[in-house]
Parts: sequence; C-alpha cells; structure tokens
Amino acid sequence: MNSRIVEEAQARLKQSIMTYQQQPVGTVAAKEDVLEEEQLNYGHCFVRDFVPSGLAFLMQGEREIVRNFLEFTLALQSDRAGLKKGQGLFGEVRQHWQGKELLIDGIRLGEGLMPASFEVTSNQEIEPDFGQRAIGRVTPVDSGLWWIILLRAYEKACQIANRPEEKIAHRIEFQRGIQLILDICLSKRFDMTPTMLVPEAAFMIDRRMGVYGHPLEIQSLFHHALRAARYELLVNESYIEKREVDSRLPLLTKYIRERYWLDPKRVRAIYRYQTEEFGETALNKFNIYENSVPEWVLPWVDRKGGYLVGNLGVGWIDFRFFSQGNLLSIISGLATPEQSNSIMHLIELQWSKLMGNMPMKLCYPALEERDWESITGCDPKNVPWSYHNGGSWPVLLWSLTAAALKTKKIEIAERAIQQAEHYLLDDEWPEYYDGKNGDVIGREARLYQTWTIAGYLVAKYLIQDRDHLKLITFGDEPELGEE
Ligand code: GLC
Repeated sequence: MNSRIVEEAQARLKQSIMTYQQQPVGTVAAKEDVLEEEQLNYGHCFVRDFVPSGLAFLMQGEREIVRNFLEFTLALQSDRAGLKKGQGLFGEVRQHWQGKELLIDGIRLGEGLMPASFEVTSNQEIEPDFGQRAIGRVTPVDSGLWWIILLRAYEKACQIANRPEEKIAHRIEFQRGIQLILDICLSKRFDMTPTMLVPEAAFMIDRRMGVYGHPLEIQSLFHHALRAARYELLVNESYIEKREVDSRLPLLTKYIRERYWLDPKRVRAIYRYQTEEFGETALNKFNIYENSVPEWVLPWVDRKGGYLVGNLGVGWIDFRFFSQGNLLSIISGLATPEQSNSIMHLIELQWSKLMGNMPMKLCYPALEERDWESITGCDPKNVPWSYHNGGSWPVLLWSLTAAALKTKKIEIAERAIQQAEHYLLDDEWPEYYDGKNGDVIGREARLYQTWTIAGYLVAKYLIQDRDHLKLITFGDEPELGEE
C-alpha cells in the first residue's frame, strides 16, 4: 500500500464528516477553502456522494456514521401519510423535519423521493434539497436507489462483523422506507418497458446531457436496488412489493442483456435491420435506422469487446459508453459473466481513450460541435472533454476496482490505481479532470472532493481485502427466472 497517500486520504475523509447534534451523519461534498458565495452546495452531504464514503467507513469497521446517515436520510424521505414513526436519531430528525410539507411550484413531492443532498446549518437547522434548489431543478431519482444499496451494504457489514444487534433494515420505519422507494419506482406509468423512465439529469450526471428516458446508469442502479430489496424486505410486511420485485427483476435483466448489449455481432445485426416494421413480431422494435450507427463504434469494440449502450428509445440508441452504468452492471450481475468479461476487455483495449492519464472517463466520446450545442443547451461547464461530457472522474476508481475483482482482472484495477496515485495527492484530490487524455485538473473542479478521496480509499481497501466485495455484490444464486 502506498501508505502516505492512504493516510492522507483517511485524514481528509475524517475532516469531511458532517455532524448533527454532535453525531456524525454524513460527509460534505468538498472541503475546499472557498468563499461562502462560491461554495454553492458543496457544503451539503449528497446521498450519491456519500456512498463511497459510507463504503470506506464500513471497510474501516466504522458502522455508526453509516447507520446515522441511513436514519437521517430516511427521516427526510417524502412520506405524505407521515406513517413512519421511530426512535433515536430517526425520531429526532423526523420530529424536526415533519410537518414541513414541501411544495415545489405548488406541487407536492412524489411520495418516497429521497433528497439529492442535505445541509445542517450552523444553528442545527436541517435543509434537504429534493431538487427545488438544485441548479436546473433536477430530480434525484438515483438517491433512493443508492440508499437501498447502502442499506444492504450496511446490513452485510453487520453480518460479517457478527453484530446482528446493530442491524436496522427490519425496523418498521426502514421497511416502510424501502416500500415507498419501490412504490415510486415500480408504479404504473406511460411506458411499455421493464426499464425505468426518468427525466433528464436524474443521477450523477445532473445537467442536461441527453440522458433522459431510460439511461443505463439508472437501470443498473434500479437492478442493484431491486436485488438488495429482495434481501431486506420482510415478506409479511410487504407481500405486494416483494411480489412485484420478483416479477420485474427477471424482465429488467433480460431486457438490458438483450437490448442494450452491443458487440460486433450486434452492430452487424443493426446494419441489416428492416425498418418501418409494424406489428408485434417486429425485430427492430424501436425502428432504429442503420445509418444512425456512428462510424467510431465498430472499430472501437474490436472483435472481442462489447458494452451496454447508454440509452434506448424510439429510433434511438445512445451509443456513448457510460462508465458508471457499465461498471455497476458488472458489480450487480446485470451483465452476464461473458458480457462482463467483454466490457473489461474493452476497457483494456481502449485504455488510452477511457483511462488516459486519470481514470476514468465518465462517458466516451464527448458531444462536440452541433451535438454539444443542441444536446447540452450550450452548457459551458460541459464543453467537449470536460466535466460530465467526457471529463475524467477519479471517483470511478471504486466501481472500476470492484468490477475488476468480480471479473478476476485485478491487474486492470492495480494499473488504474497506480496511475491515479501519481497525481491525486499533489493535485489535491480534484473532483474531475479535463481533456481527451484527462491530463488537466477540471476547469471548475473543486479540490478536496470527498468522493474522489473516498473512491480511492474504497479501491485500495478492496484490493487489500477482497472479501469487502461482498458488501456490494450478491451471492452466486441465480436471479429469479434465470436458469
Ligand atoms: C455535481 C455532480 C454530482 C455530485 C455533486 C456533488 O453536481 O454532477 O454528481 O453529486 O456535484 O459532488
């Protein structure tokens, strides 16, 4: 272990801890010394950003902060009927927050929604942000899914440490919290696919980037959360939800594995697609036109590479490679073992493009010129090869390492970590890097970004003790409906 960097990361992670009435409840997004007006919401604890922090704490054997975070955010969850009652930190926060019914432009929040982030002010006021304050007023669909995933990791950590008395998921308020999240995700909507339909920018990519509809990252989080919920839901308490999860999960899995998968064979099949097919037996269900396949795709996947595409809809395959969605699909088992190997093979093959100097590109390739103008709305933060639009995010080191361990390609993770270690400490743990090679610190990147620090630590801990992988993967038992 490169101990100096690890020690520094551990110390920084500790400094980022946020408290509520002297109890640790989360970590701030970034701990850079900036003027208050420049701070925006980087002093908040984001649910998605806390996941690598929480995993790092669990791997260090510190469960309290993760338990507190789960209780705290559960108490903030939109729950109109106010049926959730409970004790301890949950009870305190609930009491404090309850009654403040949140209306956004006169519309009540969807029941079950979890905030994107929350703030504890200097006089201990709690201020959650469900998107009503966020830049672009974006909906944090991923928060509830990450929350279930972290809850499962916490329960697993208690089991591994042989501390069943610390488990929380079976408490009545937690059961209701899971049910509310599932209800909002599984509810009937104007859609005909087993995937989840979401508005633009509903996850880590929280700016306009053409990621509305059925983006891969949301589908892989959805899949992971459904699998986790199957473990945590008590049958008697939530018979209906459990049944719905059981029927949705195999449909979702099959759909993604078949329709989002792209390898040379599939590209050739698309080239031969019939179009304008009417009727239930149509092969080209979404009426994809052959000349919508970008030129870079076929040579890029090479002969043995493959990946899950970014999105699928009417007349539309989003061919961009989104790293987080592909890596999470490997971790949760949404991708088959063969597909997982092909994705890792592709990462190796396209090392210079996907890793460059700093692992790892959030998506590849960047939107350029007219596409950038029309799809991002001329967003200057998302110019080509910057930020969400082809920028490099060191936080992805943790999911890359987990995926590499799961596919037994540990050398990929080791090489990526080593590369990152060249820069992270001297560069003061930036949020992201810019450029085709990821070799300059992002133009507007925060320094001392907590998930950069935590992502690195999780990657190191995973390599050090592969048993940690159990926190975020599932056993070998096949999913429902599979052979
Ligand atoms: C930016 C990122 C988002 C992250 C937040 C806090 O808004 O796009 O994914 O959660 O910063 O770090």
